[in-house]
Amino acid sequence: PARPRVLSGIQPTGDSFHLGNYLGAVRHWVALQDTHDAFYCVVDLHAITAGHEPEVLRRRTRVAAAQLLAVGLDPKRCTLFVQSHVPEHAQLAWVLSCITGFGEASRMVQFKDKSTKQGTERASVGLFTYPILQAADILLYQAQAVPVGEDQRQHLELTRDLAQRFNTSFGPAFTVPAPYIVKDTAKIVDLQDPTSKMSKSASTPAGLIELLEDPARSAKKIKSAVTDTGREIVFDAVTKPGISNLLTIYSALTGKSIDDLVAEFAGRGYGDLKKALAEVVVDFVRPIQERTRTYLDDPAELDRLLATGAEKARAVAAETLRTAYQRVGF
Ligand code: ADP
Ligand code: NA
Repeated sequence: PARPRVLSGIQPTGDSFHLGNYLGAVRHWVALQDTHDAFYCVVDLHAITAGHEPEVLRRRTRVAAAQLLAVGLDPKRCTLFVQSHVPEHAQLAWVLSCITGFGEASRMVQFKDKSTKQGTERASVGLFTYPILQAADILLYQAQAVPVGEDQRQHLELTRDLAQRFNTSFGPAFTVPAPYIVKDTAKIVDLQDPTSKMSKSASTPAGLIELLEDPARSAKKIKSAVTDTGREIVFDAVTKPGISNLLTIYSALTGKSIDDLVAEFAGRGYGDLKKALAEVVVDFVRPIQERTRTYLDDPAELDRLLATGAEKARAVAAETLRTAYQRVGF
């Protein structure tokens, strides 16, 4: 039987992914290549909802793709592409926006959060309809499974509603996708403020480990991470969020279980754990940085890989759009 189709996307938001993006999302994408028919996209259309600079976006999109290749996405085992290279995303989004209720869209909490931050008057309509574009991203590929974090659950629910509504009103066109819950998703928290998640937009540089930053800088940040009262190295995300975060990162990067790590560090101090983890992180990012550079140093090859990915993606997307257009009466 064919492998289940999975789709996931990531925004080219910064000049580097951070450890949270990798451990919470992209690491699982790498694993899914072997069990699923995986489609992954750098969602540059989603990156222009709140103002941007064209040259910066262009660079970040390429850097994002290069990093995804560098951490292990293999164009022979998955379909990796850039969203704007496949015009069907925007085309299907329009059709879906016409079967989405204004009130329904207004209930999306992520828009409420983000538009409050930007000022409700200034927030773009694109930010408002963002979840509809996300629905198009998923439905175009007939994805059965979508890896989602808590923050995206409501959007996937909307995608499912829109798929069902379309299929019922106009005739079958879309697979209704199910959430794919990744076991042991690591939620990585800010190194300086362990009560909030490590985040590109909210963390200070000292709280954030970027995959492409100078590894010596990452090592320094880990060594000055906020730790908890007490001296014992034990895992307890509530009373010892700082140490627990370091253990989570350590475990995820080495494959050692938390229990084994706790045993390994029994009787040793926080400083020992930090020093050891700093080395683990440095050893982890070095080859990723090298491979990223290799892809960026050969723009023609990167273009070729992305063009091939877009062609594979488009073959599927165009067929879905053709069906949807036909059902709608175009
Ligand atoms: P950011 O919050 O830094 O802007 P995004 O919202 O763009 O990151 O997230 C991209 C992906 O990375 C999502 O799948 C998200 O769930 C995951 N992710 C982001 N931050 C973390 C984190 N601190 N821990 C685990 N996963 C994370
Ligand atoms: Na975010």
